[in-house]
Amino acid sequence: MRAIAKSRPAPGVEIIDVDEPAIRAGCVKVRVEHGSICGTDLHIYNWDAWSAGRIRPPRVIGHEFCGTIVEVGEGVTDRRVGDFVASESHIVCGQCRQCLNGQGHVCVNTVILGVDVDGGFAPFAVIPSANARPVPEAVPRRVASLMDALGNAVHTVMAGPVEGRTVLITGMGPIGLFAAAICKALGAAKVYATEVSPYRIGLAEKAGADTILNPSRENAGEALRRMEPGGVDATLEMSGHPSSLPLALEHTRPGGRVSLLGVFPDVIDCFDLNKAIFKGLDLQGIVGRRLYATWDQMNWLLSEKGLDVTSVITNEMPFSEIEQAMQTLKAGQAGKIVLSFE
Ligand SMILES: NC(=O)c1ccc[n+]([C@@H]2O[C@H](COP(=O)([O-])OP(=O)(O)OC[C@H]3O[C@@H](n4cnc5c(N)ncnc54)[C@H](O)[C@@H]3O)[C@@H](O)[C@H]2O)c1
Ligand SMILES: [Zn+2]
Ligand SMILES: [Zn+2]
Repeated sequence: MRAIAKSRPAPGVEIIDVDEPAIRAGCVKVRVEHGSICGTDLHIYNWDAWSAGRIRPPRVIGHEFCGTIVEVGEGVTDRRVGDFVASESHIVCGQCRQCLNGQGHVCVNTVILGVDVDGGFAPFAVIPSANARPVPEAVPRRVASLMDALGNAVHTVMAGPVEGRTVLITGMGPIGLFAAAICKALGAAKVYATEVSPYRIGLAEKAGADTILNPSRENAGEALRRMEPGGVDATLEMSGHPSSLPLALEHTRPGGRVSLLGVFPDVIDCFDLNKAIFKGLDLQGIVGRRLYATWDQMNWLLSEKGLDVTSVITNEMPFSEIEQAMQTLKAGQAGKIVLSFE
């Protein structure tokens, strides 16, 4: 079969011939329908220090995908041929202390699809049955391809109360955009957002953010002080930009929460942690999705609460156009790009 792969230790990805994966015990074989490109895929494409240190080519990439189960492996009792499923990218051990305590999202033996083992940017993928999450019928099929990323946003937003609360989201990349839509679906009183890219500010309006501030053009701190003098109830950091951290600590109300999902490129030393202490802030590190509570919450939001994230999908193309897709993403001129594998 033809698959999108990192074929050698250098920048770029290629479409190469690989063997169709064979079914294994405990796994299901998925006929992939759609895949969605993640920032992680762009890191792999660029062959940055992180990916060069972690990925062993040749590797089929892609960890956000959906499709139909065509074969189930020995011992699989909870999935059937014909089930439509979305991928959870983290394969966890089920044995470590975290896994045994319902904290699989911080499993110390986590293996990531499309990074440590072959992923789903191919016509077929074989993945553990637990990682093939059944998708409710109400969910549009192309949306199912990005549920792994949507789960990051659901995990962050629902790590504290939202209904009737004021929320600041820093960074309107795909995950920040999802978070804005989720906050609105959950009845947030007001959603403030920060974003520096005019293109993504446009997407933030569509995703439902009430007020969008551009820190590169205005003093976002001053604007927030004017609109929310007491501070917002919660800040969700989704930019990975160091300047968002002091903004979060300054403009979250005493006793509020600051949930940190964005990954900073370097160690940060430009903020005053005493502020968090004396304001009694609840500072949370957020990684991955709660396994598998986040998936239940996501299914509920999509099928019962009217969560609509289709505006975040800006491009759809056949997987043969991966090069163009990567260039569009690199230029910052996209929300989510969905690839078709049919
Ligand atoms: N913790 C986890 O498990 C996890 C999982 C996935 C992604 N992430 C991280 O979450 C973050 C969001 O992911 P994404 O895919 O949406 O990334 P992204 O890079 O597409 O989005 C980040 C956005 O922040 C904006 N931004 C840059 N500087 C800013 C500033 N000073 N103020 C406000 N916005 C600014 C960018 O223009 C961009 O739109 C990234 O840092 C990513 O690495 C973490
Ligand atoms: Zn992803
Ligand atoms: Zn584990």
